[in-house]
Amino acid sequence: MRDAAPNTVYLSDYTPFGFIVDSVALEFDLDPRHTRVKSRIAFRPNPDATDRRFFLHGENLRLISARIDGHDVTCTLTEEGLTCDVPDAPFIWEAEVEIAPIENTALEGLYMSNGMYCTQCEAEGFRKITYYPDRPDVMSVFTVTINGPHPVLLSNGNPVAATEHQAEWHDPWPKPAYLFALVAGDLVAHSDRFTTMNGREVDLNLYVRPGDEDKCAFGMQALKASMKWDEDVYGREYDLDLFNIVAVDDFNMGAMENKGLNIFNSSAVLASPQTSTDMNFERIEAIIAHEYFHNWTGNRITCRDWFQLCLKEGLTVFRDSQFTSDMRSAPVKRIADVIDLRARQFPEDQGPLSHPVRPESFQEINNFYTATVYEKGAEVIRMLKTLVGDEAYDRALALYFDRHDGQACTIEDWLKVFEDTTGRSLAQFKRWYSQAGTPRLKVSESWEDGILTLTFRQDTKPSAASPDPKPQIIPIATGLIGPDGEEVAETRILEMSEATQSFSFEGLARRPVPSILRGFSAPVMLEHDLSDADRTHLLAHDTDPFNRWESARTLARGSLLPMIHDGAGADPAFLDAIRKVVADDTLDPAYRALMLGLPTQSELAALIHAEGGTPMPEKIHAGVEAMRDAMAETFGDAAQRIRDTHLVSAPYDPGAEQAGQRSLANAMLSLITRRDGGAAAQAQFDSADNMTNQLAALAALLHIDRGSEALAAFEAQWKDDRLVMDKWFGLQVTQARPEEAASVAEALTDHPDFTWQTPNRFRAVFGALAMHHAGFHHASGKGYRLLADWLIRLDPKNPQTTARMCSAFQTWKRYDADRQALIAAELDRILSTPKLSRDTTEMLTRIRG
Ligand code: ARG
Ligand code: ZN
Repeated sequence: MRDAAPNTVYLSDYTPFGFIVDSVALEFDLDPRHTRVKSRIAFRPNPDATDRRFFLHGENLRLISARIDGHDVTCTLTEEGLTCDVPDAPFIWEAEVEIAPIENTALEGLYMSNGMYCTQCEAEGFRKITYYPDRPDVMSVFTVTINGPHPVLLSNGNPVAATEHQAEWHDPWPKPAYLFALVAGDLVAHSDRFTTMNGREVDLNLYVRPGDEDKCAFGMQALKASMKWDEDVYGREYDLDLFNIVAVDDFNMGAMENKGLNIFNSSAVLASPQTSTDMNFERIEAIIAHEYFHNWTGNRITCRDWFQLCLKEGLTVFRDSQFTSDMRSAPVKRIADVIDLRARQFPEDQGPLSHPVRPESFQEINNFYTATVYEKGAEVIRMLKTLVGDEAYDRALALYFDRHDGQACTIEDWLKVFEDTTGRSLAQFKRWYSQAGTPRLKVSESWEDGILTLTFRQDTKPSAASPDPKPQIIPIATGLIGPDGEEVAETRILEMSEATQSFSFEGLARRPVPSILRGFSAPVMLEHDLSDADRTHLLAHDTDPFNRWESARTLARGSLLPMIHDGAGADPAFLDAIRKVVADDTLDPAYRALMLGLPTQSELAALIHAEGGTPMPEKIHAGVEAMRDAMAETFGDAAQRIRDTHLVSAPYDPGAEQAGQRSLANAMLSLITRRDGGAAAQAQFDSADNMTNQLAALAALLHIDRGSEALAAFEAQWKDDRLVMDKWFGLQVTQARPEEAASVAEALTDHPDFTWQTPNRFRAVFGALAMHHAGFHHASGKGYRLLADWLIRLDPKNPQTTARMCSAFQTWKRYDADRQALIAAELDRILSTPKLSRDTTEMLTRIRG
């Protein structure tokens, strides 16, 4: 099926490039407005290709000269690149182009941030640097010379020569152009060393702006831990003498795995106890690991084309989640990942942007760096590991690295190593890659003669991407809890492959309560009609920590719905059950804090919509607030006692143990603040010596409208720290009352430090607004209008960040007719903006439907 958009690219159209690139030499003469890039590229005909047209990608380049084998050639130039006649034999291409990094506000290709030069080439940014076959299946060896007056001049690989104002780099590992990187600037290095399993000495550097030296130590620790973990768990050793990381303030995403020269959004690497929260530390550790792990899953083995993005991203997210589970608490990490999946991937998969983990077409690939490709992609690998077992998974991965090192691969290659390892066909399993949508899994129970039978039915809603969904393989981890709370059957993997299927447990003395989908063994929506009494039984006794938490979540949802719909009071049985687990000192504090969490308001809206109702954001907000108040009442003085027991007196440490204590103590603080007028929170704010406690106190105060003094003090203290100020901008919106959220955001855009072209700052305000469910969806439509105004403003400067933020509108069809009309008007207003980018046009056309 082909849609009308002329620039749509299809997976089925893949053909190999007509030429092989044997080597690439680049020389840069850096200048903000007139950077010159000379390239010398050795091409030869590709014996495996039939199409020998010579097309090089190139965008926004001024071509100065082009030569083949030393002779000037005439090229045909288009907006997208160039073509010319080439010999039917090996030849040398030489070109010189001019670019203006200072004018590059899209932050793709070579651009400038605070006077430093840096690059972002994934997915298709290299074509903004020079003419090149900018596709991941063209891999080559790069030599790079950089001329510039900057003290630090970096590129991929190893340094081969450096004089003042010139550096030469050589990367021995063939790579696609999207992994190219260059950095030049006045930077300082935090350095260390790592000895690999086979004794290679690797120099490690974290390059930052002067003044940020005190925020490097944690990132460096995390890097060394990642290098060690990849050796221990996957047998993967680092393969260069040098590994560099650079922190950049202006960056569209989190970070980028360029070979030997990772470039990070400064928010994803800089950390100190005073300026970063425990959550920041954990995220930084995970992103450093993620980018480092790409060295094998992404760089040594890369993707054949961008449809295969999940090949590297799903696998690398899965690997970084394993790393975090090992470094911290596995159950807490699993719960956090499921919360995130439900918050970001489920809405995507159930709305107009739904697409398979491996999409089959796109207009702008940047729009497919999604929660589906990344997070659902990781879930699919997790299921695969569950299905084949840990030992077979290890053997399959060993085969993958062995067989495909140095290649640009596909999902077919990936699945084949599992088939060859296990002898099992994965034809049906492959639907997880090709089919969009979240399966619903309904379960019913029957009990007779000591046999419990569970009957499952799977259903996936048809979507534009998958109009005729077929049954998938679903691993359903299930155990049984007896009436006295004892586990009568340990976890067993029920392997479902049919639309409807039954599984029996025999020889049971008394009827147990089944604990289904333990550890969230598949990314599905489980519908299990258990009585509240049975769920409370699981909440008290389940041996699976994930499902124990899940029982609390399900009870919370059930208790919230009547509060939302008819303003009912909170269910005392639920409150009591929660109070019991949270007060249970034998449990991990971080886990107890998670038990107190409630589904997000957006998730509740999705639930109400799925049940055939119309979600009213103001009612959902009121229901959740009432529940929080009821929790504060129920805990009463116990909240203070629990908080006191978990106050940390030791020097700050970002590890899981202290972080867990703080998260429980701060969860208690937020309950206490609902009853004490802010006294405890103010005291904590005044005395805090770390950002976790300072920010938690500020949030609690802002929530009860007693935060204006603290807010001013915070600004005075942190006005020169851009990462902390991002928090200051965001928190005011997050904690605003629904009717004020849009006005607060609007007022913040007048603040002199609202540097809106920096993606971190733009997202601090507008990401927070989009996440404020009742504020963004306030009936006045002010939230919609304000976001649309700013998206229109940002689009010509930075299409990629604009397009990503459009997803705030993806759930619009859940709401009432008035809200839908307001949103439709804003979508149309943005869409009718002259010269709207391809990125934003694609996103909004899909959302508008
Ligand atoms: N490969 C990077 C990562 O996930 C993300 C880079 C995405 N860049 C982009 N322009 N879409 O680690
Ligand atoms: Zn990645």
